[in-house]
Amino acid sequence: MIIPIFSLLFLFLTTGEAQLVPGFYASTCPKAESTVREVLHKAMINETRSAASVMRLQFHDCFVNGCDGSLLLDDTPTMLGEKLALSNINSLRSFEVIDEIKTAVENICPGVVSCADVVVMAARDAVALSGGPDWEVRLGRKDSLTASQEDSDAIMPSPRANASALIDLFAKFNLSTEDLVALSGSHSIGKGRCFSITFRLYNQSGTGKPDPAIDPRYRMELDKLCPVGGDENVTGNLDATPILFDNQYFKDLVAGKGFLNSDETLYTFEETRKWVVKYSEDQGAFFDAFVKGMLKMGDLQSGRPGEVRTNCRVVNGPKTPMELVSDPWLAF
Ligand code: HEM
Repeated sequence: MIIPIFSLLFLFLTTGEAQLVPGFYASTCPKAESTVREVLHKAMINETRSAASVMRLQFHDCFVNGCDGSLLLDDTPTMLGEKLALSNINSLRSFEVIDEIKTAVENICPGVVSCADVVVMAARDAVALSGGPDWEVRLGRKDSLTASQEDSDAIMPSPRANASALIDLFAKFNLSTEDLVALSGSHSIGKGRCFSITFRLYNQSGTGKPDPAIDPRYRMELDKLCPVGGDENVTGNLDATPILFDNQYFKDLVAGKGFLNSDETLYTFEETRKWVVKYSEDQGAFFDAFVKGMLKMGDLQSGRPGEVRTNCRVVNGPKTPMELVSDPWLAF
């Protein structure tokens, strides 16, 4: 089969890791970053929790074959995507906020800004608009052509995970123990379901007993919220100030009031405890480490070919004859 030369060139230019730089859209879409923040801000006025839900998307996108918007793809008859993977089903939310942002950005600069970059910008804005640090993100990602439920299931950690398993997982992504603790500080905002904690309330590690690390008063609160046989979709706050991005999460862990097992274990485990204590006492140190961690996580890439999707939920279809006529690659 003869492959047209422009296809080969296209393949060459879109394969491999993109060079990520701050201000990537400064000339091609100067209002991209301000538009993302504006639309997210409106969504947060509508529902404060959307900040947490949107910020979480960066983690679940970037850990599975890099930050490539694969998480945003809907299932198709031939592809089981990531939305229904174990850690995501009935849990990830606010995909419609990403759609709203993408539509607003497409309206000002069609076909320029990738969905993967929208996620990274929105995650940063979610933190900044919730009272946390603000920082410059590196941009220029491409969107994946596929997604994998299997990969997500194999990679994403369970809320039951202990600190040792989490350290090993994050190390695979070149993220240090300090990065793990700082990034877990994202649980400073948002909520989790009873589904994610009933085992630790009633049957930690198969003992038939609660996790001894939970403060007894806090456990009574959680028992009330999540009784045996109750609705597992009821939600509780991940820390005592769930709409404010601050270091309360770490103070809560020190007091035995971490919501998830994967949270409290960061305090009970010796290797991670020193970072928890440090961030509980120094919000500035937490913010600095969090920004570093988000930037490192945002740099994860698969090196696979990509595109700038028009709709974050579906890959771009084949080009129409009219689009092909105006395709600059035909000039080759
Ligand atoms: C260290 C390993 C982590 C584990 C095991 C974990 C697990 C979880 C679980 C189980 C929930 C609640 C889900 C539910 O019950 O439906 C949750 C919520 C959340 N996670 Fe994590 N997470 C981790 C790290 C991270 C990271 C690195 C980020 C972002 C940088 C993040 C951001 C969030 C946010 C913001 C929420 C609240 C979402 C909402 O309210 O909709 N998590 N996480």
